Amino acid sequence: MKAIEWLGNRVKILDQTRLPQEEVYLELSRYQDIASAITELKIRGAPAIGVAGAYGIALGALKIKAKSREEFMEKLQTVSQTIASTRPTARNLFHAVDRMLRVAEAGEDIDQIKKALVAEAINIQANEAEATTKLSQLGAELIEDGFSILTHCNTGALATAGYGTALGVIIQAWEQGKKLRVLATETRPLLQGARITAWELKKADIPFTLITDSMAGYFISRGEVNCVIVGADRIAANGDTANKIGTYTLAVLAKEHGIPFYVAAPTTTIDLSLASGDEIPIEQRSQEEVTHIQGVSIAPEGTQAANPAFDVTPHKYITAIITENGIIREPYGEGIGGIV
Ligand code: MRU
Repeated sequence: MKAIEWLGNRVKILDQTRLPQEEVYLELSRYQDIASAITELKIRGAPAIGVAGAYGIALGALKIKAKSREEFMEKLQTVSQTIASTRPTARNLFHAVDRMLRVAEAGEDIDQIKKALVAEAINIQANEAEATTKLSQLGAELIEDGFSILTHCNTGALATAGYGTALGVIIQAWEQGKKLRVLATETRPLLQGARITAWELKKADIPFTLITDSMAGYFISRGEVNCVIVGADRIAANGDTANKIGTYTLAVLAKEHGIPFYVAAPTTTIDLSLASGDEIPIEQRSQEEVTHIQGVSIAPEGTQAANPAFDVTPHKYITAIITENGIIREPYGEGIGGIV
């Protein structure tokens, strides 16, 4: 199952908004379509957004007609700004955009830059795939045989265009022969857990139970969860972590009940330019995503709803951050600088 695939002059993505009812693949050849696919969550999850953004810039670059290198670079700025303005929280997107722009700046002529941008986008996907495979192997060491693991949102192959982060760790532990039980939160409002994590776990044949987000305290307080593991959209220099809304609640619950709370993410999710989580931009999405479920209204007409897509978990609640370069623990300020 591939979240995203480069086809030479277009990009094939699995439309994640249609899962699990339908497996619909879209072939996109315009950078504007990639931008919309990211905004609409057809492709989603921090690493996958970065990979899609890079391919979007490559597609945009291939179509640019310019008489000079200067004119080309100006038009490329418009393309990259469109891609960068799709979603504000996932660090991986900005990491990918920066990498693409650096490659363009180093290029000498337009044809060479176009080729280099395509190659760089392919490299970005390969690097994310390699990093998520590695961190999943490292993280699996923290998972013991017989563990019951609670995870939130969707952090598997589809979210990463690679192996997965939190779900990658779980799948790796399972593949090592450890017996596991997964509690997957449905992840309101857009149900990434119910729709996508459940779909991926089912495909991997891993036993799981779907719970609503509000059931987490019930199961944790009854001693039915050995650890919580989640992904990340952006990690600040002090370890504070932005992830799908509801993550903070899980971290506080884990601390209260004395179970480990792990964050799994590639180093491309780490943003050393931000001292703490207070500086992480949090995406606010439309009210309709809360007042409606899959297009069906569930609240009286005119209801005002709030929809922050992410929250920030202060580092004091995080037992360890699992990256491809190692597992780090407090003091995060020191550990993070050493692995990025
Ligand atoms: O809004 P989404 O579905 O893009 O949010 C995804 C998450 O919050 C994931 O937990 C995060 O990107 C890490 S997964 C690789």
